[in-house]
Amino acid sequence: MQATENILEKIEEFIKQVEAFKSTKLDEIEAFRIQFLGKKGHLADLFAQFKNVDASQKKIFGQKVNQLKNSAQDKVNELKLAIENSSSATEYGDLTKSATPFEVGSRHPISLIKNEIIDIFSRIGYSVSEEREIEDDWHNFTALNLPEEHPARDMQDTFFVQTNPDYMLRTHTSSVQVRYMEANKPPIRTISPGRVFRNEAISSRSHCIFHQVEGLYIDKNVSFADLKQTLLHFAKEMFGEETKIRLRPSYFPFTEPSAEMDVYWGLNSEVDYRMTKGTGWLEILGCGMVDPEVLENCGIDPNEYSGFAFGMGIERMALLKYNIPDIRMYFENDVRFLSQFQSAL
Ligand code: DAH
Repeated sequence: MQATENILEKIEEFIKQVEAFKSTKLDEIEAFRIQFLGKKGHLADLFAQFKNVDASQKKIFGQKVNQLKNSAQDKVNELKLAIENSSSATEYGDLTKSATPFEVGSRHPISLIKNEIIDIFSRIGYSVSEEREIEDDWHNFTALNLPEEHPARDMQDTFFVQTNPDYMLRTHTSSVQVRYMEANKPPIRTISPGRVFRNEAISSRSHCIFHQVEGLYIDKNVSFADLKQTLLHFAKEMFGEETKIRLRPSYFPFTEPSAEMDVYWGLNSEVDYRMTKGTGWLEILGCGMVDPEVLENCGIDPNEYSGFAFGMGIERMALLKYNIPDIRMYFENDVRFLSQFQSAL
């Protein structure tokens, strides 16, 4: 009787040992398995003692031994599985983790505005044309009624190619007008976005590199009213249905008559006063009827065709839409600045 009690206590102690056992090493787990479940292990030993157990205790003895056997077996399985899982984690990564979240980038504000302008004009039938950034004198100046020594060349301080001053970095996208008219017959409806270069000191308001979009419409009987309606449509699409515009007479050598277009910005804040010089109006583009001389320079008969052109600065447009106070921010590539611009376009 006493002997049986001792054995039961012993089994209880084995069960505690099994529960407490921990290892991440296969050889330790195998040693543990042999110690309890092996041919000469504790369980084999206990089963051998079964016949000596007091008849009244046989049932409880049998239950305890089974409990020990099951928990030892479970322990071995559990520890082996844990090792398997952790080794597959090093091989494949953690398969239970969600897929790597892919980082959505954002477009540069210049691209956003450019795409928006293209979008607006392509809906009314304009194609997109692009041309070279290094231009010759003819396409950047002379064909546009800006012959050498013309004082209006001073409006655009130019970077010339040092070895051949007949070539330069284009100072405006109006050069694309010339190339497009030389290569295409009317009717023409095209916009030309691109980078332009001027020899200007860099400040918060001007830069030596910036972007423009040029527009050109040539057909029979195109009038200034067509120009005005097109630009009004554009301004409403860009800045909202309520937008008001005005055209002020101006001068460009390649258009006659010429105008500058303002949008009404309002005078709601001190910044508005400063930006609009107290008028509430902001200039956003230059435009006019293409000078007949320019049409002729580009091989289009001015007696048969007329048309209009316009040119706008993308940085300025982005400044108005996004309230960007300093033009240099566009070119600094600061992620904190760039990541603010999310868009579908
Ligand atoms: N090329 C002019 C500039 O860079 C902008 C411009 C004005 C373009 C009038 C045009 C136009 O096509 O008609 O300042």
